[in-house]
Amino acid sequence: MKLLLLNGPNLRLLGTREPDIYGTFTLADAERLAKETAEKFGVALDVFQSDIEGELVSAIGAARGVYDGIVINPAAYTHTSVALRDAIAASGLPVVEIHISNTHKRETFRQVSYTASVCIAQLQGFGLNGYALAVEGLINYLNMKK
Ligand code: DQA
Repeated sequence: MKLLLLNGPNLRLLGTREPDIYGTFTLADAERLAKETAEKFGVALDVFQSDIEGELVSAIGAARGVYDGIVINPAAYTHTSVALRDAIAASGLPVVEIHISNTHKRETFRQVSYTASVCIAQLQGFGLNGYALAVEGLINYLNMKK
């Protein structure tokens, strides 16, 4: 089994970016935790971050046949991107959407997700640990389907 972790715009700034909202962990910390969690289950996990919407769309488009599932934090594109939504739907892969913060406690424009309804699950508000929970949840989902 092989998974892909995608992180969207501005998440490379984790650690210094609005620490009161996102905490002080870095993108590397989140990627390491996701990889370690996957490894505990004997699963491989690749990571990719981009600030560019089209690069994320292309990564999802290339994932079919290579990965068994995707964990994605689409960041701000969650609230704007029909292209990401369509890429997820077209991939045919189980995708888990994750957010570090609980977007429902924030501005109203963050309370709409273009992507959640084409994902198998959405998980938010658990901070860094959300990356571990999302990976474990996706692995359980894939194992149940076998
Ligand atoms: C985020 C929430 C989004 O609203 C925001 O644009 C982000 C991060 C989160 O992980 O909490 O960049 O996806």
